Amino acid sequence: MSEHDKPESEEARSGGAEAVHYAFFRRDVLQMAAGAATLAAIPHGTATAAPPAAAPTNQEGTSVMPARIRLTVNGNSRELELDPRQSLLDVLRETLDLTGTKKGCNQGACGACTILVDGKRINSCLTLAIMHDGAEITTIEGLAKGDELHPLQAAFIEHDGLQCGFCTSGQIMSGVGCIAEGHAHSPEEIRFWMSGNICRCGAYPGIVAAVADAAGRT
Ligand code: FES
Ligand code: FES
Repeated sequence: MSEHDKPESEEARSGGAEAVHYAFFRRDVLQMAAGAATLAAIPHGTATAAPPAAAPTNQEGTSVMPARIRLTVNGNSRELELDPRQSLLDVLRETLDLTGTKKGCNQGACGACTILVDGKRINSCLTLAIMHDGAEITTIEGLAKGDELHPLQAAFIEHDGLQCGFCTSGQIMSGVGCIAEGHAHSPEEIRFWMSGNICRCGAYPGIVAAVADAAGRT
């Protein structure tokens, strides 16, 4: 008889390390037996079938109708059927696989998710995709022209405007917006108008220098 086959001892019933060991083993055996019995009851060929997709539901359990929208993303027209509760950030990252836009705080505090919507910079975590039917979206993936980097992307490399890189796509998209708005005439102005973009690595001197440099070139 092995250690595991021993009947429950007085010590096991009364506590201690051995008791924990036996109790765990007996529970595992019971769970495995229950699982085997359930599988045996399922007709052959249905055990691996995926369950039917459930319609999305709200918190009260009521099903939610999917919504259809059209977006132009980095120049490509996309027709999407989506859950109306999805943020624009989640649609970009999870539906369109554009993971260059980062999810930092998911509550509007860090700027990592900054993109351009109809030319204006926004935090994509704070807005529902359904609110932007027909909009033109630009993400970090849409800035370069083939192998030619956008001037601000090149300036970030030249001025060492990053360390870990997690904030960088948001910083660059925000910098593009900041320059287009005419808010990049001085380091002070750039710092003020880019203050919604947080860099936990503290690469701010390089970021400000890059935006100032690109503003002079564009
Ligand atoms: S992820 Fe959107 S602001 Fe932080
Ligand atoms: S480079 Fe690391 S958070 Fe900005």
